[in-house]
Amino acid sequence: MLKLDLSNITSFVPENYLTSRKDGLEQAASMIWSHTGPGGDFTGWVDLPRNYDKEEFARIQAAAKKIQQQSQVLVVIGIGGSYLGARAVIDLLCSPNYNLKKKDTPDIFFAGNGLSTDNLLELIDLIGDRDFSVNVISKSGTTTEPAIAFRIFKGLLEKKYGKEGAKDRIYATTDKARGALKGLADAEGYEEFVVPDAIGGRFSVLTAVGLLPIAAAGVDIQALMDGARRAMEELSAPGLDNPAWQYAAARNALEEGGKCVEMLAGYEPRFRFFAEWWKQLYGESEGKEGKGMLPASLEYTADLHSMGQYIQEGRRIMCETVVSFAPKGEYVIPDDPENIDGLNFLSGKPLAFVADRAMRGVMLAHVDGGVPNILIQMPVISEASVGYLIYFFEYVCGLSGHLLKINPFDQPGVEAYKSNMFALLGKPGYEEKQAELEKRI
Ligand code: PA5
Repeated sequence: MLKLDLSNITSFVPENYLTSRKDGLEQAASMIWSHTGPGGDFTGWVDLPRNYDKEEFARIQAAAKKIQQQSQVLVVIGIGGSYLGARAVIDLLCSPNYNLKKKDTPDIFFAGNGLSTDNLLELIDLIGDRDFSVNVISKSGTTTEPAIAFRIFKGLLEKKYGKEGAKDRIYATTDKARGALKGLADAEGYEEFVVPDAIGGRFSVLTAVGLLPIAAAGVDIQALMDGARRAMEELSAPGLDNPAWQYAAARNALEEGGKCVEMLAGYEPRFRFFAEWWKQLYGESEGKEGKGMLPASLEYTADLHSMGQYIQEGRRIMCETVVSFAPKGEYVIPDDPENIDGLNFLSGKPLAFVADRAMRGVMLAHVDGGVPNILIQMPVISEASVGYLIYFFEYVCGLSGHLLKINPFDQPGVEAYKSNMFALLGKPGYEEKQAELEKRI
């Protein structure tokens, strides 16, 4: 399913970069699979494609059907790990133009992932007088941005449908026992879905967090899970021929060799939010104790015309991972007898051929310019391939984090901003911190 090409890093890493990491990888894999080691309590994602809650999965499918029948719009409220996975998969499988398409599934809008007043007003306007439902997603149940958005959309629903009618259109995805959202959902009687204890936000796309909005968009979530399961089965095999081990070792060797930025590049515009999801996955997992490569993303070929100069000749701190999918359709470049544009040397060639040559040319130029390149080749974009790729990146992330000797599964740095914001907003319980921070702003 996934082909990993590491031939374009060989001149940047020691010859034995893989074998010298064998013990580290063995230990990392063993900790992940036995749910031990730093962050072991948060490795529920590793066997999720086999051990997911089948009863809840069926409820997700039924809820998605109900949303499709009841509503022309679904507002998905969440931020970070409670947002990016669903957006990534919907964009990749259904297109970033999904809302513009003719379809019998609802438009999907994302809210609560920022604090922009203009965005909020625009969204309310876009919904207009259409029927809508809300899926509010928050593992902690206390994150400010989604909590505010939910208060607003809950109010709008109640105004439109009454309290009982609104209740029938609200789906809450949160912790099974704790948090303000859990309390609210229990008190109001919303349909609830669970963010499992053992799965952190950035690893939660294949739980109800991602699956309900993805299913509401008409994606076959069973096929998505089956793709992830295939990855789990194939990648669980220990050994240096395992592509997840190889990619983890390559990244680790490149970082050790001085590369401090990893750029994820895609040639499909619909890949953009998948790269955003990937950035959170790697940034939050590895960015600790002064370690970890900064994850960045590029959309080719467009960014070659804006970032290309820097990549080719700027500071030599970067490595690049390219994800390429086989095209689904074909478009052949037409012949033009006048050939004024001088392009007849491409007449009759599929556009995909041009894209492939461009990708190869870019890789070689970047390697010559001192940017090591890793290529991940996937078959066509489908539920199965996307599920596989999600799991691949999650598993490599766990292995890589352990190779770095950090806890890949916590995010203490995210809490720092959250608690400052609570303090500055005057949340009860934060008085002391508020006084201290007010002096500094
Ligand atoms: O990974 C993290 O912890 C964060 O990015 C969270 O996903 C984000 O803050 C949302 O948190 P919650 O789901 O608790 O609202």
